[in-house]
This record gives sequence, C-alpha cells and structure tokens, in this order.
Amino acid sequence: MTTRKAMLTIGKGKKIRDLPVYKGTEGPEVIDITALYKESGLFTYDPGYMSTASCESSITYVDGEKGILRYRGYDVTELAGKSNFMEVCYLLLNGELPDKKESELFIAEIKNRSMVHEQLLFLYRGFPRFSHPMAIMCGAFASLSAFYHDSLDIHDEKQRNNAALRMIAKTPTLAAMAYKYSIGKPFNYPRNELDYTTNFLHMLFAVPSEDYKVNKVLAKAMDTIFILHADHEQNASTSTVRLAGSSGANPFACISAGIASLWGPAHGGANEAVINMLEEIGDVKNIPKFIKKAKGKDDPFRLMGFGHRVYKNYDPRVFLLKDTCHKVLAELGMLNNSLLKIAVKLEEIALTDKYFIERNLYPNVDFYSGIIYKAMGIPSNMFTVIFTIARTIGWIAQWKEMIEDPKLKIGRPRQLYTGHKLRKYVSIGKRK
Ligand code: ACO
Repeated sequence: MTTRKAMLTIGKGKKIRDLPVYKGTEGPEVIDITALYKESGLFTYDPGYMSTASCESSITYVDGEKGILRYRGYDVTELAGKSNFMEVCYLLLNGELPDKKESELFIAEIKNRSMVHEQLLFLYRGFPRFSHPMAIMCGAFASLSAFYHDSLDIHDEKQRNNAALRMIAKTPTLAAMAYKYSIGKPFNYPRNELDYTTNFLHMLFAVPSEDYKVNKVLAKAMDTIFILHADHEQNASTSTVRLAGSSGANPFACISAGIASLWGPAHGGANEAVINMLEEIGDVKNIPKFIKKAKGKDDPFRLMGFGHRVYKNYDPRVFLLKDTCHKVLAELGMLNNSLLKIAVKLEEIALTDKYFIERNLYPNVDFYSGIIYKAMGIPSNMFTVIFTIARTIGWIAQWKEMIEDPKLKIGRPRQLYTGHKLRKYVSIGKRK
C-alpha cells in the first residue's frame, strides 16, 4: 500500500490539512478521514456506504465497471472452471492454493468436523415444522457457540482456526438438517467417503430406507455455485459479520449475524424472490406487463435478480451460472422448462430496454441460480440456505483477517441527528 497526501477544503477555502491517500494494489484510492472530526468537528455522511471503504482487505477484488471478480488474485471464472470448492475454501482462508499434501490435510480436517453435536437435534426439534430454514440456520449457527467452548477464544490462533474449520464443515450438515426437518424426514449423517458438495446433496436427498447416488453433473453444478458465491468483498452480510466481530463477539455468533443479513430480499434472499417472480409472470407473453411494472416510479415492484450496487456491467458469475443452468436442465431432460424460457426472454427484453440500459441494470448472481435449484428439486425457501453454505467461507476469511489485524477497532459509525433538541419532561396528566 502506498501513500500520498490530499488537501481537503471545506466551505470558503478552509483547509483541513493534508489527508493521507492510500493506493491499494488495484481499485480506487481512498482518503483516510479518521482525523477529520478531530480537526474540523465534521463527520462524513454516507448512508449505504456509497463512497466509503470500510476496511483494508487482501481477500477479494471486485471491479464493478469491468465485471471482474477475483479471490486472492485468481479470476473466479478460472477457479470455477479448473478448481473445486474445497480448494477455494483453502485459498480464501490461507491466501494461497494448497499443494497436494496441504489439500489432503485440509479435506481430512473438514471431514473430521462434519457431524454436529447430537444435542443440536433437539434444538431443531423445538422449531415449528413450517419454520423458514433461514430462521433455523440463524438459530442453529448462533447455538454452535453454546456447544464448542474450545473455539470461542478469538485471541487464540488455534481456537480461531478450529472455529473456522468447524463452521465450513458443519454448514452443509446444518443446512440439510433444516430441509429434512421442514419436510418431516429423518436427518442424514454426513458421509466421509463423499466429497464436500456430493455429501451435501446426499444429506439433502437421501433417505435411510434406500441407497442414493448423487448425480455427478448436479454435484459439479453445485460445486460451481459454491465457488461463485464464496466471497464478494464488503457486501451487506460480510460487513455485518465484520461489525459484529469488531466487538470481540465469538465467531459462531458473528456468522449467525451474517446469515440474518444475507436472508434479506435485497441481498441473498433475491434468488428465492426471482423464482417467485418468474412463477408470477407465468408465461413469456406476460413479460411486457412486468417490465412496465418494474419501470413504474410509484410501483414498488422490481425485477428480482437484476441490478447490483457494485456491478454496473455484467456480473461475471452470471455467464457461468447461465451455462451451468443449461447443463443441469439438459441432464434432467428439462430444457423445455417454462421458467427458463421466461428467464431467458426476460433477460433479453430487459437488456434492450432503455430504462435498464440507462441504469446499468444487468442480471445478477441470483437470476439463474434459483432455476438450477428448482430443477434439482430444491424448494425455494432453501435457496438462500445454499447461498449460506457457500458464503460461510467468505465470512470466516474476512472475520479472521479483521481479528488478525493489529489495527482492529470496534466499528462505531456516527450519525446526522435530526430529532428533538432538549425538552422538559411533562407528567402524564399535563400532556396534551
Ligand atoms: N428493477 C427495476 N429497477 C431497478 C432495479 C430492478 N431490479 N434495481 C434498481 N433499479 C432502479 C431503481 O429504481 C433506481 O431507479 P431511479 O434512478 O429511477 O430511482 C436505479 O435503478 C438505481 O437503483 P438503486 O436502488 O439506487 O441501486 P442500489 O445500488 O441501491 O441497489 C440492488 C442495488 C439492491 C441490488 C437493486 O438493484 C435491487 O433491489 N435489485 C433487485 C434485488 C436483487 O436482485 N438483489 C440481489 C443483489 S445481488 C446479491 O446480493 C447477491
């Protein structure tokens, strides 16, 4: 990181002082305004973090204008084509791709931790069957801190690593349990002879009464989806994890906070909303009506799976997801699927529409993933849960990076106060 100085002038040429400007390896330079309040009595105001870098990070790089996404310097498309999710987890966590021995050890360490405490089964049984699986995921993840007391000390590197491995290993188990519980079927234990992603699909779909073989094309598709969703720098859920963790909260509680944030329809919950929207559209001939609704100033309806805070160009993950979607539907003999037809046509129409062009609204990562899940037989309330499995590694890597940064400070934003000035208390009988 290199530094230069920038002069900030406020009002009638009042010079604050030369503020440091940092240049990272890529991306826009940032102005360090930490001394601004002390020197000027002013706060900066940036709701939604439109121009604010909230931290320094060396994990993931996104260039929204050029449509670039890289993990630790590797292009996500190349990783999705040549690597696998376990390797990507190692990369995000440790900064480098593993050699053969490191890879084998990492996979073994994950497999060793894939079961959950038996007592957790009772926690699941306390939820109503109709619970949204994301509600169960928030609760189950936070509850891990009640079970694994030997990985709560965030100042102990060994415990931090143990917590990281535990969370990567247990997320698919917790996710599959949430699904099985919602449909009233028995939980499946993890199978260590299977790879990470195949094991997840096995826990999701197998029943104890018969053998179940996971389809290799579907397992590969899910692995690709996991890679593409693994990290996305300082998005809402990751920033939530960082803010929660900045107080010293334990890692299980922090990831649970991230899951809650991911659940929102403007974030990870959008993949569920996309399918609901495609089903509501129902037929290609109804698309123009919905495009019109999406453009209406007074209509809250938005085209779900379109638009992104950072990407003002094609989201690089969408090409691969669209291709994966076609592969999965071809494997399952569903290329005539009506939702896919609506999605492809919707994308085509939106991309030639002035409203969407002018606002740089392109399909995002959630646009095609839902169709893939649906074709695999996964219900829509599980879509964001799958996103959770993939993003857990990103959250953990970002949390670890923050905890290991000697400059760590508790996150404490300020505000522009617009409430009352001091008022006198009036007793209840005298109030108007
Ligand atoms: N459909 C129709 N219009 C849209 C859409 C959309 N999907 N997205 C943005 N717009 C319009 C807005 O109405 C606004 O128009 P205006 O300038 O006339 O007021 C303009 O585009 C800019 O939109 P903002 O909301 O200011 O953009 P922001 O960066 O804050 O929001 C967001 C990004 C939340 C993703 C938004 O595009 C959206 O709601 N999309 C649909 C939900 C979605 O797919 N979310 C998943 C995001 S990816 C992820 O989290 C994994």
